[in-house]
This record gives sequence, structure tokens and C-alpha cells, in this order.
Amino acid sequence: MGIRIRSIAHYVPDRILTNHDLEQMVDTSDEWIRTRTGIRERHLAAPDQATSDLATEAARRALERANLSADELDLIVIATATPDHFFPSTACLVQRNLGTRGQACFDMEAACPGFVYALQVARGTMMAMDYRYSLVVGAETLSRVTDWTDRNTCVLFGDGAGAVILERSSDTEDAFLSAFLGGDGSLADLLVQPGCGSRNPASPEVLERKDQFLKMKGRDVFKHAVLGMQESALIALEKAGLRADDLDWVVPHQANIRIIEATRERLGIPKEKVYVNIDRYGNTSAASIPIALSEMSSRGLLQKGHRVLLVAFGAGFTWGATVLRWTVS
Ligand code: ACO
Repeated sequence: MGIRIRSIAHYVPDRILTNHDLEQMVDTSDEWIRTRTGIRERHLAAPDQATSDLATEAARRALERANLSADELDLIVIATATPDHFFPSTACLVQRNLGTRGQACFDMEAACPGFVYALQVARGTMMAMDYRYSLVVGAETLSRVTDWTDRNTCVLFGDGAGAVILERSSDTEDAFLSAFLGGDGSLADLLVQPGCGSRNPASPEVLERKDQFLKMKGRDVFKHAVLGMQESALIALEKAGLRADDLDWVVPHQANIRIIEATRERLGIPKEKVYVNIDRYGNTSAASIPIALSEMSSRGLLQKGHRVLLVAFGAGFTWGATVLRWTVS
């Protein structure tokens, strides 16, 4: 009995915001953004698109590729830090959009590693509940919690969604060779959306302070990110009984090219084995890894049997990694 990835797909909104567009909005430059982050452009949701809309489109594509109908799903999990609402869950809205009902539905909030967390939570739920098919989506509209007048943060983020269908069956070898998840709440204040939750409910004062938008201590985040990514990757590799050399691909959370580079160097992995697409999408938080995997799959870079390390960190702080045997043809 094992769980495999049956299909993968992604969706990003059409609207592109380039670094040159940002030069018209805040005191920044294309050169600064490219050299400090590796980002050239990012996709932004249209005014009438929310996280559930991006997630639904990615989910429809993944279902089509799996040749499944939404009614065959047993579980819907959406990893997101930017849900449509606190309640109902984005997962329930995606279920409604897909025209189905009855499945277990919930959102997974673990910031950028949300998709890595959600894969494990979905696996556990599938085993506990004897489920056959699950939809796991990483989806974000970070543009909605970004202060577009703050050059320290607004150059970093983008919107998008990536979806997988997990299948559990008796004739399947498990695709998950190992996983590791971690967190450290003592670092919570380094990256936070301070307002509009139960701590500071929406009020004129909250809006005046712009506390509905994310705030970040970039340099500190950077330092902990590299440590968290490295530790997660090493533990996941050890648990899988593998060395870095045994990997075909590393797919890191796309937060900053310098974080990816520093992690790669510390793990001693050659550049050509690390997938990078931050230049075209920016940081899409929980969506970044499934978008990358979907792109790699479409480009024929992932082959059945490839050993792939996913590794991420984010607000909380949370971090995590998993080693997969790729199962999608
Ligand atoms: N354009 C021009 N200058 C800028 C910009 C900008 N967009 N942003 C900041 N600066 C300035 C700063 O004001 C500062 O100026 P000062 O020295 O006069 O004060 C200078 O550039 C250097 O600032 P640093 O913060 O030291 O720049 P750094 O090299 O650390 O890069 C960055 C900043 C890109 C934010 C980096 O720290 C980083 O990537 N941190 C991690 C961020 C991250 O990954 N966050 C996502 C976490 S995932 C999640 O959960 C959502």
C-alpha cells in the first residue's frame, strides 16, 4: 500500500508586474531587485480573482491530467496563508467551484512550507481514513496582503497556484521516501501580518498603521531561512538514507535566489540540479514548490523514478523538506 502523485498542474494569473513597473511605484530599480532577489517579474491576480479561484483553476487542470472527476476525490486540502476568508475554508470554496460535495475539506496554514506540510497531512489523513484520492493545492494571493508603497516587501511577492492529485492504492510503492517538518514560534515577529486577525481586529487604527499588510525583518528572515532550509534538507536526506549526490533534483521554495544559492552551496549540490523560476514568479509562498514541479513536469525535466528533494521555510517560522520518488509520467 502506498501513496503516489498521480498528476500535477499549475495556474498563474495573466497579469504580469515587471521590475520596471515597480520602478514607477516605489523608489527601487530593476538592478537592485534582480541582484538582491533574482526576481524580474511576478504574476498578480485580477481584481475579481481570489485564492480559491487560482486554486480551482490549478485543481481543474490536475484533475483533467489525472483523468478523474472531482466527485472521485475524498479529500481537499489547500495550503495557503492568504485564504479568501478566515471561514469558510478556501478548500470548501474550491469544492464548490469544482461542482462537487461530500469530501473532507480544510486549509493548511504553515506559510511558505504550507505545501510541504500539506503533502504529509494529506498522506496521514488518507491512511487514517482509507481514502483513495486527494487534491492538495498550494495557492496564494500575496498581492492582497502586500503594501504596494513599501519597497522592502512589495518587490518580493507574487500570486499563483499549483495542485497535485495524490492516489493511494495497494499496488503502489510509496512515492514519499522521507519527510521532515519543523517550526520555531519564537521567531514569529520577524514576518507577520499584524492586523485583521483576532489579536488586532480590523479598525481604523489598524488600517492607519497599515497593519493589514505583511511586515518583515528581511535580513533576519534571510539568515534563519538559510539555516532552516539546510537543516530540513539534511534531515530529510538522512531519513531517506540518501546523500545529496543521489538526488536528481532539488526544488527549493522560491523566496530569494541568494537564499537558494546559499542553501545549494551548503548542501554541495551542483547548480544544474536545483530548479529556479523565481525570476518569473517572485515568492508565491505555498504555491511556489507545486508551480515549480508542474513547470518541470511540463518541460519534461522530471522523469518517473527521479529522486526529488522539496525544501521550504517561511513565516512562523516553519520549515520542512521531503524526498519524493517522482511518479507522474
Ligand atoms: N529597492 C531599493 N532599495 C531597497 C529595496 C528596494 N526594493 N528594499 C530595501 N532597500 C534598501 C534598504 O532600505 C536598505 O537601505 P539602507 O541601507 O539605506 O537602510 C538597503 O536596501 C539594504 O537593505 P537590506 O535589508 O540589508 O537588503 P538585503 O540584502 O538583506 O535584501 C531582502 C533585502 C531582499 C528582503 C532580503 O533580506 C531577503 O530576501 N530576505 C528574506 C526575505 C524572504 O525570503 N521573505 C519571505 C519569507 S517566506 C514567507 O513566509 C512569506
